[in-house]
This record gives sequence, structure tokens and C-alpha cells, in this order.
Amino acid sequence: MSDLVEYGIRDGVSVITLNNPPVNALGAGLRQGIADKVERAGADDAVRAIVLTGAGRCFCGGADIREFGQPPIPPSLPDVIEIIETCPKPVVAALHGVAYGGGFELPLGCHYRIADASAKVALPEVTLGLIPGAGGTQRLPRLTGIKAALGIILSGKPVTAATALSFGIFDEIADADLLDAAIAFALARADEDGPPPRVRDLEVDEPEAGFFEDGRKKIKRRARGLIAPWHCIESIENTTKLPFDEGLKKERALFLECRESEQSKGQRHIFFAEREAAKIPDVPGDTPVLAIENAAVIGCGTMGAGIAMCFADAGIPVRILETDPDVLERGLSRITKTCAGSVKRGRLTEASMDSCLGLIKAATDIAEIKDADIVIEAVFEDMDLKKEIFAKLDEVCKPGAILATNTSTLDIDEIAAATNRADQVIGTHFFSPAHIMRLLEIVRGAETSAPTIATAIVMARRLKKVGVLVGICDGFVGNRMYHHYTRQAHFLLEEGALPGQVDKVIHDFGFAMGPFAVGDVAGLDVSWRIRQRRAETRPADERYSPIADRLCEMGRFGQKTGAGWYAYEDGSRTPIPDAVVEDIILGVSEELGFERRAIDDDEIQQRCLYTLINEGAKILDEGLALRASDIDVIWVYGYGFPAHKGGPMFYADQVGLGVVFDALCRLADIHGDLFTPSLLLERLAAAGKGFKDVSG
Ligand code: COA
Ligand code: NAD
Repeated sequence: MSDLVEYGIRDGVSVITLNNPPVNALGAGLRQGIADKVERAGADDAVRAIVLTGAGRCFCGGADIREFGQPPIPPSLPDVIEIIETCPKPVVAALHGVAYGGGFELPLGCHYRIADASAKVALPEVTLGLIPGAGGTQRLPRLTGIKAALGIILSGKPVTAATALSFGIFDEIADADLLDAAIAFALARADEDGPPPRVRDLEVDEPEAGFFEDGRKKIKRRARGLIAPWHCIESIENTTKLPFDEGLKKERALFLECRESEQSKGQRHIFFAEREAAKIPDVPGDTPVLAIENAAVIGCGTMGAGIAMCFADAGIPVRILETDPDVLERGLSRITKTCAGSVKRGRLTEASMDSCLGLIKAATDIAEIKDADIVIEAVFEDMDLKKEIFAKLDEVCKPGAILATNTSTLDIDEIAAATNRADQVIGTHFFSPAHIMRLLEIVRGAETSAPTIATAIVMARRLKKVGVLVGICDGFVGNRMYHHYTRQAHFLLEEGALPGQVDKVIHDFGFAMGPFAVGDVAGLDVSWRIRQRRAETRPADERYSPIADRLCEMGRFGQKTGAGWYAYEDGSRTPIPDAVVEDIILGVSEELGFERRAIDDDEIQQRCLYTLINEGAKILDEGLALRASDIDVIWVYGYGFPAHKGGPMFYADQVGLGVVFDALCRLADIHGDLFTPSLLLERLAAAGKGFKDVSG
């Protein structure tokens, strides 16, 4: 165990090094090692001061999240920090790379903090449904002032070294070797009289009247239904009301309450699920990856423009090809406008906008993109057009270049067959708006090679996306499930519900918007066109709701036409229930012979969510997703499923698959095959297992 923490002495300074790759997470062994080594240095006459540092790529990535949910093993992190804080010799934390969570609370318990320019500190606990539980909410406000601390803790976002210095978090930034600087700094402090200073002894500033109330008001929408952000504010406010030790005790109690909550379990599940998604059993970690030094995008429409921005934002030069110069011009000016909007909102500096725009070059001839390492096709959803483009790309592009399609419904194998390099053809399904949405479904064709997949996964990370590998099926994983979920919502309208009621239930569950509000934002014409294309192949006996078609026939395409499932006044985005829509719904119910009834909220929630889960189970059974947690990642990052519920499959496991199975059987008795549980769900429920037990 003690190997996790190294002990050395240089010039009378004990250097204690955290060495627990990859990120020095503070597991039990590391905590014990730090406590032992600090006590040893405290008692060692040859030691005048102590430097605490991290080996490898960072100082420390925080508490070992895998330990949460396990029986606690002493010493706790607060106990370790107390040992450091009460050490009579100066303890200097020397930070490089990230110091997050407990990995930042530890230095806050040290007497001094020195860092190099790569250092970043954060208290990201709130993103895991937690509050900092080792003094972060009590020490940081004493160091930076309450306002800055509240911002850091509630956002969970990293603070750069320069900002941390300006906040008084760092005492110094080393401009040469960090360890040398830390040792020199520690020796100078050892020469000073008196006990080393402790953050806990600093005075807390008095915030202006109403400060915390304002803070609560500001997070009202964002923190709807969550526990952790409110507990963060309460704990920070305690610094103004309680002595340090009492505040610390209260912080621990709030932390433990969060740690045991279902919400935090869901968010922790997503943290690991996101990382697991990058691991593909038949694409080992050492698979060669093509370096992407420049990219090309075909089509400068809604998606192409957004995808080009993703590359430019990641510092990768990108050419965007359009055949029609006017469309190209319009697309490029949309990109400029979007970037300017980001500058206005403070998301982008003017300089980074300029460098981003400078990386996007226009092209009108396919020969201009022949040197691209990857080409992403985002033209109209038309198989013949895509095949024609891929055949040309195959001729023109350099050998080895990856040819990707952004299709959302078409068969990638058929597109790949138009080339002589099917192994280098892959689907990269971005979500709209492409420069904002974090999900990237990476669609594997029958012949897609391991290096092509590995390259797409690495590319996703570079583009700051969460890549999830899926197989080919209609709508791939996300849209296929979404289709069944919205269909169910439409059936509920036929039987007695109204859009506002369904949307409220889904919103109350934790989604940002219900399916009808989402439809109005996305544009109802998009799915209308898809339905029209598929009308001929739809089985005659399949239940089909015509309500959305009726709206589209009236030109109600959603927000962009000022009317859809709701009415919108004068360009406003606030949905208003509309009597016209209600009349259409009532009319369709009558036509189809439904006797409308009052549908309660539980039925709405169950029918929408259990349909979603059942389709996810089928997808898993068909091997189109590698694991249930991949489906969770898709739904949290692509469809706004509440992260604190952990995604649909995790949520189902929490409810219990037996409960979900029984409910689906009851619904199938009433409504027929629509609800017949998947065979996988049936097997797992019978065995008392969960989706988490299915391995890819
Ligand atoms: N506890 C346990 N495991 C952790 C961890 C933690 N706090 N932080 C990272 N890991 C693991 C990851 O699961 C991953 O494991 P894997 O290789 O088996 O998939 C590995 O460490 C590397 O993490 P990754 O995120 O892929 O590396 P990165 O260099 O991109 O990012 C961090 C490193 C530390 C910035 C990032 O992992 C992070 O934000 N961690 C969580 C920090 C946090 O919230 N701490 C507070 C906990 S209360
Ligand atoms: P769009 O109509 O906005 O843009 C398509 C662009 O392709 C147009 O600007 C058109 O001029 C251009 N184009 C057509 N033929 C071309 C050619 N031969 N060479 C160069 N450019 C050509 O469409 P979109 O919404 O951006 O969708 C593009 C693709 O992305 C489709 O396959 C679609 O299914 C998929 N997709 C769309 C969304 C979405 O929400 N819009 C989401 C995911 C995937």
C-alpha cells in the first residue's frame, strides 16, 4: 500500500509524492499513505518542511469515485487533511495538471499552494450529485471570498492557474521546475517564526444582503429537482453562520446525504459510462489510429456547418464543400454569425473566434478536398446522392483517408459498397446543433476496420464529443428509441391526453422538455418527410397516429412557423396550448373510434418511459449497442434524459426489471403488441438481474 505514496528528503524538505496512476485518485491506500508519510515527516528531525506533490500527468483527480457506495475505509479524507493542517512544519502543495475535488481539498488543507502554469483546480462534485465533503465548502470561501467560491463550487468548472493565483488560491506560480520552486518556497517558509498559517483560521467576508437568496434564485431552473446544488449553497452559507468545526461537521452530513442519494448514483454511473463507451472489445487500446491533421465536410447546410465548426473549434483545419456557391455563402455567413453570438455570450473570445474562422476554408470542387485525412458527408438524406458522392470520394481522396457519413437513417453498408475502401467507411452521426450537442453516434458498418473505429473514437474526444459505437439499424440507437417514445406520446393524445399534459409529466421527470415541445423546436416537417418516405413500407396493421401529419398539412412546422403542437406569439419561444390543436386531436380520436378518457400522470410516464426502455432492451439484445450504459450515455448526451436518473437503462435497473416487465405485460394486455416485453427484459427479470449484468 505504501508504494502509492513515495517519501524522499531533499535539502531538509520531505517530498511526499502521490503515485496512484492514472490520476492519483484518493483511494484508501493513498489516504493512509499520505497520513503516514506526513506524520513521519512531522516527527523526522531531518525534515524542516514538507512538499506534497503528484506523480504522472496531474496532482490528483480527487476522491476515488469507485469507493462511493462501498463501506467506508479509514482514514477518511477529512482526517488526512486534519493531520496535514495540524502539522507543525509548513506543508506546501505543489500542483501540476488537475487538482480536482478531494484533490483540491487536500491542498486547501495545506499551509501553502504553489503551482505550475498547467495547473487547474476545480470542485466538480456538483456534477456528480455531491457537495465537496472534505472541507471544500468551508475552506475555499475563507480563501477566495464567498462570491468566487460559490461560482467555483456551483459550476464545478476548472479554474486556470492564472485565475487561481488572482483569487489567492495559489501563493505562487513557478516559472521553472515546479519541485525546485516548491522546495525553495518551503525552506523560506520554514525560516519564518510561528506556526504555519491555516486556511481555516481566515476570516470569512460578509456577503451583501440577499446574496444567498439571489444565488438560489439564479440556479432555480438549472437545479430543478436536484439535491446537490442546494446543499452546496447551504454549506457555503454556513461559513457565515457557524464556527469552522461546526460548518465542517454540517458539510460532512450534507455530503453523506448526497452520496447516498439515487441522484448521485445516477450521475456517477454516467461518469463511468461515458469513459466505458470508448472501450471496444475488438478494438484494443493499441490499435493504430490515423492522425487527423485536416478534415473536409461535404454540404454546408444545418449539419455540415455545425460539423465544420466542431473541427475548427478543436484547432483542425477544415474545408467545406458545396456545389452551389450561394448556399455556400449563406452557410459560411451562418457560421460567422454563430461564432459572433458565442463571443457576445462570453463563450468565445474574439481572438479564438478569428482563429476558429481562419481554419474553415470553402471549396466548390471535390478535387480541393483530396488531401483530407477524414471527410464527413452531410448532404441531403438521399441514398443515390450519397452513393454518387462516396464513389467520387473514393476516386479522389488519398489512400487511407476515412470517409464518414452523417446520415441519420440510411444503410452505411450500402453507402460503403459504392467505394473500394469499405473498411474505411464509417457513420459519424452528429446531433443538431452539431457544434453544441455532445453526443456522437459512431456507426460501424459490416466492413469498418478497427483502425477506422479507433480513429473515430479519438476524433470524438478531440472534438469534445462523447462517442458511442452503435450498429446499423433504422435510426441507429438514439433515434430508433426516440421514435418509439414519441409514437407512444402521440397514442396517448388519441386516447385522452393533451400535449401540455404529456410534456409536463416528462418535464417533471427531469427532461428539459417533453416530446411535443421538442418537436416544435426541431421542426415537425423533418419527421413528416421521413414518415412520407416510409408510408409505402409501413405494415397495414401497424398502429399509426395521423395527428402530426394533420398539423404539418396546415403548415404548422413548430416554432419556425409560429405554430406546431403549440401556438407561439410574435416570435416568442413560449409554448401556448392551442384550441386548434385540441380540436384536431379530438377529431382524430373520434375518427379512430377512441372514447377519450382521463389519463393519469403515472400512466403517461410509464407508457413513454417503459416503451423507451423496452426498445433499448431490444437494441441490446440485437447487439446494436455494446452495453446498456452506452444507451444511457446516448440518451443523457443526445436527448436530455436527466443525468441524475442515470439514463433509461440505469433507471430501469433502479426501478427493478421485474416491475418494468410486469407493467409492460399489463399494458400489452390492454393495448396489444406495442408493449410486448423484449425477450432480454423477460430473461433478466426472471433471473432477478439488471441491464447492468449484460456484457457486450
Ligand atoms: N475516481 C476514480 N477513477 C477516476 C477518477 C476518480 N476521481 N478520475 C478519473 N478516474 C479514472 C477514469 O474512470 C479513467 O479510468 P479508465 O481509464 O479505467 O476509464 C481514468 O481514471 C482516466 O480518466 P479520464 O477521465 O479518461 O482521463 P482525463 O485525463 O481525460 O481526465 C480527470 C482526468 C481527473 C480530469 C477526469 O477523470 C475527472 O474529471 N475525474 C473526476 C474528477 C472529480 O469529479 N473528482 C471529484 C470526485 S468527488
Ligand atoms: P441540409 O438540407 O440543411 O443541408 C444539406 C446540404 O448539402 C445543402 O446545403 C446542399 O446544398 C448540400 N449538398 C447537396 N448535394 C451536394 C453535393 N453533391 N455536394 C455538396 N453539397 C451538397 O441538411 P442537414 O439537415 O444538414 O442534413 C444533412 C445530413 O445530416 C443528412 O444526411 C441528415 O439526415 C443528417 N442529419 C441531420 C440532422 C438534423 O437535425 N438536421 C441530424 C443528424 C443527421
